[in-house]
Amino acid sequence: MIQVAVMGHGVVGGGVTEILLKHTDDIAKKVGEQINIKKVLDIRDFPDSPIADRFTKEFGEIIGDDEISIVVEVMGGLNPAYDFVKQCLQKGKSVVTSNKELVAAKGAELLKIAKERNVNFLFEASVGGAIPIIRPLHQCLAANNIEKINGILNGTTNFILNKMVRDNMAFEDALALAQEKGYAEKDPANDIEGQDACRKICILASLVYGKHVYPEHVHTEGITNVSLKDVEYAYEWGGAIKLISSARMNGDGIEILTAPMFVPFDCQLSNVDGVYNELLVRGDSSGTIGFYGRGAGKLPTASAVVADVMDCVLHKDKRRDIFWEDSDGSNILSYKLYTHAMYVYAESDDPLNALAHAEELFGECERITKWDAADNEVVFITGELTYSDFRKKCKAFTEFADVKSIIRVAKI
Ligand code: HSE
Repeated sequence: MIQVAVMGHGVVGGGVTEILLKHTDDIAKKVGEQINIKKVLDIRDFPDSPIADRFTKEFGEIIGDDEISIVVEVMGGLNPAYDFVKQCLQKGKSVVTSNKELVAAKGAELLKIAKERNVNFLFEASVGGAIPIIRPLHQCLAANNIEKINGILNGTTNFILNKMVRDNMAFEDALALAQEKGYAEKDPANDIEGQDACRKICILASLVYGKHVYPEHVHTEGITNVSLKDVEYAYEWGGAIKLISSARMNGDGIEILTAPMFVPFDCQLSNVDGVYNELLVRGDSSGTIGFYGRGAGKLPTASAVVADVMDCVLHKDKRRDIFWEDSDGSNILSYKLYTHAMYVYAESDDPLNALAHAEELFGECERITKWDAADNEVVFITGELTYSDFRKKCKAFTEFADVKSIIRVAKI
């Protein structure tokens, strides 16, 4: 019998205990041993839980219990998760986590401890919820050089953008609904300001490029500045606005960012609805592969956590060799050098004159119009240029128009 502890009984933690209890026998058949939840750590009481007697408020009851060989961390946040996970690994317990903040901030260090102690540190659920992505990148696509990854990695923002477009729902109402459904982070600013998606692309980039990518080195923009007007213009242009996270090799450096982007309708990412996530990964031999599924929510995320627990049981003597080195960030290229075509929404009393100056500054631009546009709206897409070049030209353009919104066009 394998004894497991679960730290955190929130949305995902509740899902983990539910699946482990519901599928006890099937799981035992698959891994060859019964998995028993010995302790659940939470500061709250859950008197109605079928395992109410196994709850504890003391981490000491987990770290001090030598029978517990696998610890699931689904508390979220860095503190005290980091300290607890580190102690568990040092004590020779395998750890499974869904905590992207923890892996993105401390992955290299924790993987090193896991390697030294010959235990597993697995985190499939930290990226893409139910979507298998860590294992496929580490294992199935291992023979490839991964040229680029583009994806929608945050269910909450995708759900919000969708509700705004499809149901004409106000931003705040859509966010409240995402929170009600258990998609959003404890602090939803992490979703809407892009940090959650940034952490996930950092984990993927660390995994495929072999060196830790820290979120603080990655340019990140959220969706709080995206207006309904931008969404409508994207539609007129022939696409949708999505929060895109991307990573690609450029020479010896990595281009990586998270930002809202125009995605053309002929790219499948434009059709990803609701809480779904999708990742497109291009390997030099495999070509492009898509990974699609529910990116957040109780049972989808919990299913990935439980699968990792099962993997720990199957690899208890021979650990899964997931590893990347630490890094000082010098392998990350400045976002100012990445090239994109840019959407510009501006207002001017003399729109024709402003457009003429836009073409002088940016070169040939693709103008976008819509039937109910106000007379002073000047909206266009520039050709591809570096972000720093764009900002310089945009500054010069403000002499002729008031620039209200700029959004990158995705390069998938
Ligand atoms: N808040 C996250 C999301 C949860 O909306 O995608 C899953 O990581």
